[in-house]
Amino acid sequence: MDEVIAHLHDVSIGYDEVLIKDINIEISAGDVIAVLGPSGIGKTTLLRTIAGLVRPLTGEIELAVDSRGGLGYIPQRLGLVGNLTVQANVEMGARVRTSTWRPVFFPLPQEFMKDVKEAMSDLGIDHLAQQPVRILSGGQQRRVATAKSVAQRPKILLADEFLGELDDDNVDVVMQTVKKTIAAQHSALIMVEHHEELAKEVANRIWRISDHRLIEELER
Ligand SMILES: Nc1ncnc2c1ncn2[C@@H]1O[C@H](COP(=O)(O)OP(=O)(O)OP(=O)(O)O)[C@@H](O)[C@H]1O
Ligand SMILES: [Mg+2]
Repeated sequence: MDEVIAHLHDVSIGYDEVLIKDINIEISAGDVIAVLGPSGIGKTTLLRTIAGLVRPLTGEIELAVDSRGGLGYIPQRLGLVGNLTVQANVEMGARVRTSTWRPVFFPLPQEFMKDVKEAMSDLGIDHLAQQPVRILSGGQQRRVATAKSVAQRPKILLADEFLGELDDDNVDVVMQTVKKTIAAQHSALIMVEHHEELAKEVANRIWRISDHRLIEELER
């Protein structure tokens, strides 16, 4: 039996109005799920609701995620600190896992630094480690945001259009790195993706949002 990481029971989501209703779905270890649908349909809201940033209108969300840093979220607007270096931003991901809170300038223990270095190297941004994030290109910043989440080693990673602005080579680099993390951690990835062909290439499940419903389209 696959390990279930998340379970949504009769969930409806939205703000004043319902965006998506009657969501009943399980997420298992190893799942790579792509969420498709037109602009404004509620894809970001779905990720934010699973992340616990927005309360579901009805229903219940169970997450089998208990460790610190067990849930990773790469927002559509990345959420990096522009004035800090690439390395300091990636360290913030690993910092979430440490048992005591440490300020940003406090050195991380060696075992966490190993993950930080590995994530930067996997994503091909180690040569940018000491650059402030604000001077990087859009695609480079996306790789920094991904490295930060990979260094966090989440059980479930929610990624909102994180492949945008990347050329084909970098899409491969990012997907390989994320898939490696998922396999190593027995975790799951839910990604919002506008490019349908790309989504079908990398995901083993497709959720299409249409007419206020979530439809499971592809399962392999
Ligand atoms: N904090 C909020 N309060 C009220 N309404 C919101 C809020 N955030 C988003 N909305 C509305 O919810 C709807 C869905 O927004 P959402 O960001 O989830 O769409 P999306 O599918 O991610 O679109 P896109 O592909 O453009 O990113 C939109 O009509 C948006 O205006
Ligand atoms: Mg969105």
